Amino acid sequence: HLSVQERIDKKRKAALVGGGQKRIDAQHKRGKLTARERVELLLDPNSFVEYDMFVEHRCSDFGMEQDRNKVTSSLILMSSRTTCSQTDFTVFGGSLSGAHAQKICKIMDQAVMVGAPVIGLNDSGGARIQEGVESLAGYADIFLRNVTASGVVPQISLIMGPCAGGAVYSPALTDFTFMVKDTSYLFITGPDVVKSVTNEDVTQEELGGAKTHTAVSGVAHRAFENDIDALLNLRDFFNFLPLSNKDASPVIECHDPSDRLVPGLDTIVPMESTKAYDMLDIIHGIVDERDFFEIMPNYAKNIVVGFARMNGRTVGIVGNQPKVASGCLDINSSVKGARFVRFCDAFNIPIITFVDVPGFLPGTAQEYGGIIRHGAKLLFAFAEATVPKITIITRKAYGGAYDVMSSKHLRGDMNYAWPTAEVAVMGAKGAVQIIFRGKENQAEAEAEYVEKFANPFPAAVRGFVDDIIEPSTTRKRICRDLEVLASKKQVNPWKKHANIPL
Ligand code: COA
Repeated sequence: HLSVQERIDKKRKAALVGGGQKRIDAQHKRGKLTARERVELLLDPNSFVEYDMFVEHRCSDFGMEQDRNKVTSSLILMSSRTTCSQTDFTVFGGSLSGAHAQKICKIMDQAVMVGAPVIGLNDSGGARIQEGVESLAGYADIFLRNVTASGVVPQISLIMGPCAGGAVYSPALTDFTFMVKDTSYLFITGPDVVKSVTNEDVTQEELGGAKTHTAVSGVAHRAFENDIDALLNLRDFFNFLPLSNKDASPVIECHDPSDRLVPGLDTIVPMESTKAYDMLDIIHGIVDERDFFEIMPNYAKNIVVGFARMNGRTVGIVGNQPKVASGCLDINSSVKGARFVRFCDAFNIPIITFVDVPGFLPGTAQEYGGIIRHGAKLLFAFAEATVPKITIITRKAYGGAYDVMSSKHLRGDMNYAWPTAEVAVMGAKGAVQIIFRGKENQAEAEAEYVEKFANPFPAAVRGFVDDIIEPSTTRKRICRDLEVLASKKQVNPWKKHANIPL
């Protein structure tokens, strides 16, 4: 007979080895770390407590009560700053049992109650097949919590192995999904089912690997080289985020002077308005220490979004990218931008918008795909946002896209134009072809149009931009404005929830 203490020690020891050395070795052989190794990399040493190590799965069908200890396929950890759940692939392939789900739900409830972000590290074969509906119920319980926690605490998913079937919907509901290259994949149904239904031959990697989801589907927001790279990046990323919707965006000590001038910006926009430049150069030049955590860098590259700091304070950055499709807005960039803006607004993160947009992308592909409905998302997101909003028009702000890109009319707090700004319904050539159709002296008309509209004055004289600023002073202006706007309070009318076009 074992004493109680001996039984406690035995159970803890069993939990620590998960599915046993053989499966740990197999995990390493695949280039993956174990659940515990991952957690040690991700979390500050000694900051965490693990809960529910004694919870056991309850299934006794299919020989489940024998041969293996009954530890659950998950680790649940909590600190004052975050909660973390990690599936343990060495225990029944990390598959979700009822008990496993119960553990996750328990800390998600606590996270919402205390205001702490939820991080989920996923490496799992999905629903525990032996448990049937109990496991499916477990997923639904988690999904419900993902939904109710949305906008209350930040939720981040890191996919570090398989994630298939219904399991994909938890990451899909969270704010950010990151993946590990080559070892992680997400799909509704695997290659075999795809073959039998659509007769397509596709590998796991092509169907749901990191490249597919970060460049083609837009399901994941970033991909990292391996487990270590992913976990270290997740740590950096986490530090940009507030703990909950009731907390201000975090402020860290800043060694980059807030009044630093950026002389290179005075010449960054080319003289010819059709020539491209890289919006990332502007963003890197302006933010603290050139530190910009880009979200979805390989998807809808005609818009750039991501997090940075200004004088130590987290900001969300949105910028048209003249280097890709001239910075036109299209379906994918609108959705990418809208979701990012809504995250920032939900979590008190000021939004800085850099505008160089010739309009929405024309064509049947866009119209049939519903650009009107999708473009409306970005408009909606900027308009409803009540966080501090600062906008800089670097060059073109044409047509409806001018309105959409955090214009003064959508409650932009500080809207600036660089001297190179052109705010107009469209470019000179197109405009003259319409209003002087068939007339002579097109060149003269074009010159007159350029003289009238290809400059920031029409917007400035109407107060639609608050100032025309020297580009080199942009950082200084933004930092000063953020100080002023730190106490901004703006509320939308009461509603159950808005009805954003989906
Ligand atoms: N339920 C119960 N056990 C599962 C499981 C599940 N959903 N998925 C995997 N496992 C177990 C396996 O039986 C195996 O157990 P063992 O170590 O005792 O042999 C262990 O987890 C590892 O799985 P294995 O198949 O050997 O790993 P793999 O890397 O070759 O393949 C998967 C991983 C996820 C592709 C594969 O296990 C799989 O297809 N699982 C089912 C996925 C699914 O359809 N889930 C339902 C979705 S809701």
